[in-house]
Amino acid sequence: MNTTKRNWIEAHKKRFFQYFGKTPVVTAVAPGRINLIGEHTDYNEGLSLPAAIDRWIATSIYPLSDSTRIEIQAPDMSAVIRWDSAQPFTPASALESYGYGAVELIRPLLSQFSGAYILIEGTIPIGSGISSSAALEVSLIKALLATEDVQLDPIVLAQYCQQVEHQFVNVKSGLLDPLASIMGLQGHALRIDFSQLSTQIIPLEWEHCSVVLCHSMVQRSLASSEYSKRVDECEAGFKEIQLNDSSVLRKSDIRKEHLPIISNERNRRRWEHVVNENQRVDLFIQAVQHQQWEQMKTILHASHMSLQHLYEVSCMELDFLVDTAYRYPTLYGARMMGGGFGGNILVVLPSSEVPAFIPYIQNAFYQKFKLQPICQVYQTDNGASFL
Ligand code: GLA
Repeated sequence: MNTTKRNWIEAHKKRFFQYFGKTPVVTAVAPGRINLIGEHTDYNEGLSLPAAIDRWIATSIYPLSDSTRIEIQAPDMSAVIRWDSAQPFTPASALESYGYGAVELIRPLLSQFSGAYILIEGTIPIGSGISSSAALEVSLIKALLATEDVQLDPIVLAQYCQQVEHQFVNVKSGLLDPLASIMGLQGHALRIDFSQLSTQIIPLEWEHCSVVLCHSMVQRSLASSEYSKRVDECEAGFKEIQLNDSSVLRKSDIRKEHLPIISNERNRRRWEHVVNENQRVDLFIQAVQHQQWEQMKTILHASHMSLQHLYEVSCMELDFLVDTAYRYPTLYGARMMGGGFGGNILVVLPSSEVPAFIPYIQNAFYQKFKLQPICQVYQTDNGASFL
């Protein structure tokens, strides 16, 4: 474990004592994620290639056996959530939905749980598309389970996190974010096949490369409503194919030749993206394995074009950042990352270029939008753990 992470966790535990006058019984730490490629494929039983990163959310808990009081301190969000686990409670903010939702979902798996002091802190910028919410769910659920030594299979744990989003936050997200946060491995990406719910570790032997995320400075306000629309459009396209071709039993059976069956042009474009994006995941892996940088650049560019024109989840600022990145002479590729409608672009380039690239893209963005985009280098890290 690196010193930054160890020091940060030690300080977190000290703050727990300052808040509650107790030493936490358990501390779970879960990372955010980048996604190298494979966007909007998770809820369509496709493929993705995320990696866990060196930004985390930590949750510490001290169970209260003689009280039904639950208190969550989340100082990064200047929030305190308090409720009585024996009384009805209605969450009034997204954070309350995450906190209350995770506790409610996990309570049936715990025989002794009554009340708790909980501290949640993190180094993941909130709402910037690197999965602070999944990291929060993973760390909180892992910590709750550990108070009674309950073990869950990583896939089942990820499904509980997904249920917090579905049932309490009302976003129909897939399993990409929690699986990456749970199963990531330093120096590796995770090839996830969402039709099998299987994962494969892919070594990232590209020591001379860096991954930079550049933030579009756009609040992802449309993100959840448009996200749900895309989920519904894909569902409608799938149903139509299924009705007309009995060999298609699952979304993962959909191939290029099925696309003309979809009568709605927009839904057809959505599936065209998904089918091609799945292929790009394996092409990207081959490009990494054979160090084919030009090939990687072509694949990442095609992914962005598809997200922009076929899936329509980009925005002007993201497109500007991507276009500007591709004008930089030494680049291994760039594309928008995550759900879209704001958030970050992901850029892969030689590490030696980072000091020149960041001011280059920041200046260009400032000229156009009069805002300074936040650009940061991210390293891969291990998935969730106890510390
Ligand atoms: C968000 C969702 C994920 C996934 C991505 C797009 O991050 O939470 O489940 O669908 O968007 O790839």
